Amino acid sequence: MRTLIKYLVNSNSPIESVVVKGWVRTRRDSKGFSFLEVNDGSCLTNLQVMADANTVGYKDISRFTTGASVEIYGSLVESPAKGQKWELHPTEIKLIGPADSSYPLQKKGHSLEFLRTIAHLRIRSNLFGAIFRTRSKIAYAVHKFFQDRDFVYVHTPIITASDCEGAGEMFRITTLKGNIDENPQADFFGKPTYLTVSGQLEGETFACAFSNIYTFGPTFRAENSNTARHSAEFWMIEPEIAFCDINGDMNLAEEFIKEMARYMIQNNSDDLQIFEKFVDKQVRDRLKFVIERPFVRIQYVKALEILKNSGKNFEFPVEYGANLQAEHERYLTEEHFKSPVTVYNYPREIKPFYMRLNEDGKTVAAMDLLVPGIGEVIGGSQREERLDYLLENVKYHKLSPENYWWYIDLRKYGTVPHAGFGVGFERLLMFLTGVSNIRDVIPYPRTPGNADF
Ligand code: 4AD
Ligand code: MG
Repeated sequence: MRTLIKYLVNSNSPIESVVVKGWVRTRRDSKGFSFLEVNDGSCLTNLQVMADANTVGYKDISRFTTGASVEIYGSLVESPAKGQKWELHPTEIKLIGPADSSYPLQKKGHSLEFLRTIAHLRIRSNLFGAIFRTRSKIAYAVHKFFQDRDFVYVHTPIITASDCEGAGEMFRITTLKGNIDENPQADFFGKPTYLTVSGQLEGETFACAFSNIYTFGPTFRAENSNTARHSAEFWMIEPEIAFCDINGDMNLAEEFIKEMARYMIQNNSDDLQIFEKFVDKQVRDRLKFVIERPFVRIQYVKALEILKNSGKNFEFPVEYGANLQAEHERYLTEEHFKSPVTVYNYPREIKPFYMRLNEDGKTVAAMDLLVPGIGEVIGGSQREERLDYLLENVKYHKLSPENYWWYIDLRKYGTVPHAGFGVGFERLLMFLTGVSNIRDVIPYPRTPGNADF
């Protein structure tokens, strides 16, 4: 039976007989013997294989080139070489699938931009191996975080008729040909439908039945912003908590970020090493800092005051009623506080219809959690649970109550104060790895003009 390389490189003792399957990373030949470095994706470390003339299959060694897939039988023995504990002495080596010299990962040091053009192969490199193992582990950590706290996991629909964020950034889906607006009733679902921008509205219905829920799935935004932190398709985690206000919401968001940082350090230290070495020297220290220190919490108006007094010349205006831009978020987290910051109580006019109006009648109980290096990773709010206020807010945002009838129903039947937030999973990964472009933490990025794979 085949053993994954991670168990061999971390073995406590030699092993008489093992089978390894993987891909050749490099081969070095000497007189009468060759070293193969083999990787199977189970860990960062390659297994060194020392084959020689006694190895069955050695006559074909020249075909064991970088990128080829191989099957190897042999014994795990202590390595005399520095930098590794074990190496494999094979009795037999078999070539499964050859790779010719056009294999694009022949040498190290390709740029991230080039590697994006070979997204189907970049995952065989050290860095992308580490990134996507991290993605898998952190997905598990997300589920663990919520399951340990008795949150019920909900699969909210991907196809929807309602625009949760009201920003008009939805991808329309249709089976109609020609002018799709002429007779939308003839469409597959009998009305215009879209890919969801958020599972929140449906999530709220589940919270009003199960108390604590979370979603974790793909979301889509037809935002034409070609930035390093926006993607047209991304994954979002959206907890929703019944009987909870904005303070409980901010507490949970901060606890979540700390726990993810802790999980990363405790369970993914090897891959973190690669990020420290090749991506961001400070990443481990920053994670430690985030675990140890309390986060800063300030109201929106306070954030404006700090930005106005910063003496900085921002590109975008700092004035009441304007959204905080990336440059503002970065100033607050990286320069002023040097820590994650939660900004809350935003002007109602710049936030969606579902947010709860504060006593002042001007602001809503919204919160954004900002982290150094990235800015907003989490956006959330307390929801408007009062029927009359909600109806008024639907009108204020020029939406049609008919489209939200089931959402409005929740306020008629056993309404409760409730709150929740959305975490951009890729932004969380950027924060945990130090990788600075969202295109490098998602397997096949979808950005304006790019859906090649
Ligand atoms: O702030 P947003 O738009 O909030 C919502 O969608 C709410 N319905 C969440 C809720 O309260 N349940 O998005 C939440 C997070 C952002 O903070 C950001 O991290 C991420 O989703 N996000 C994106 N990530 C990548 N590419 C994009 N285009 C993103 N848009 C939002
Ligand atoms: Mg937001």
